[in-house]
Amino acid sequence: LLPDGAPPYRAKPVNAAHRGGMGAAPENTMAAFDMSASIPADYIELDVRTSRDGRLVVIHDDTVDRTTDGTGSVKEMTVSELRKLDAGSAFHRRFRGERIPLLEEVLDRYAGKIGLLIEMKEHDPEAASRLAEVLGRYAFALPQQRAVRPELAGDRRAGIIVQSFHLEFLNKFHRLRPDVPLALLVERGRRLRDADLFEYTAYIRYVNLHWKDADIRTIQRLHAFGLLTLPYTVRRYAQMTRLLKAGADGWITDYPARFRSL
Ligand code: G3P
Ligand code: CA
Repeated sequence: LLPDGAPPYRAKPVNAAHRGGMGAAPENTMAAFDMSASIPADYIELDVRTSRDGRLVVIHDDTVDRTTDGTGSVKEMTVSELRKLDAGSAFHRRFRGERIPLLEEVLDRYAGKIGLLIEMKEHDPEAASRLAEVLGRYAFALPQQRAVRPELAGDRRAGIIVQSFHLEFLNKFHRLRPDVPLALLVERGRRLRDADLFEYTAYIRYVNLHWKDADIRTIQRLHAFGLLTLPYTVRRYAQMTRLLKAGADGWITDYPARFRSL
């Protein structure tokens, strides 16, 4: 606490655009990423899955049904089939023609220019190897290559963070690429024991809480273990100010433009 008892506001919370900033553009598309880059947000959060032919594509659901004009399971479609789909019109007709991006396409455009918070939606060992292999080609954007203070460089300066709800996935991925900062997503209401937090400190930097669980006590506990938190998914001003007061290190929001000034 500050001397007057006020909570410890951080100098600059991380403003991360959920699914690229899905409040203003179709989720997980280049249109959304371009929009968030132009604000600029600090990080673009995006979701990754594998196509039938083993390529990493940027899509949230395990089917294309909700976000495109097609139907079917992502893992049963080839990249060429996935790329024919319209991923923009379901949001608004003016985005017609947006495609499901390849992860490499996103990395080609943004790695080293804006932060990328990459959520791997699959958690099998092959998913870890595939992601490690692709990110290995963009090592220039990883903190160790980037700055004098590796413990900070990946956080705020156009770094790459990999996140997952699955601890085993992060563990496996860490063994393949120990140079990539990791975030564990925690489901709403899950109790975090001291023993869990202690275990995380070995290789995890962020414990990303549901925003309702991100109270001052929990955040202080995380900080006491040297862990940071970017709570998800924030949409309202009151939620944001509550997080700021509680000492969150940033947030993941559908509306990165709305909260940039904070
Ligand atoms: O970044 C947190 C958030 O993305 C997790 O939920 O379902 O939007 O991927 P979801
Ligand atoms: Ca996500």
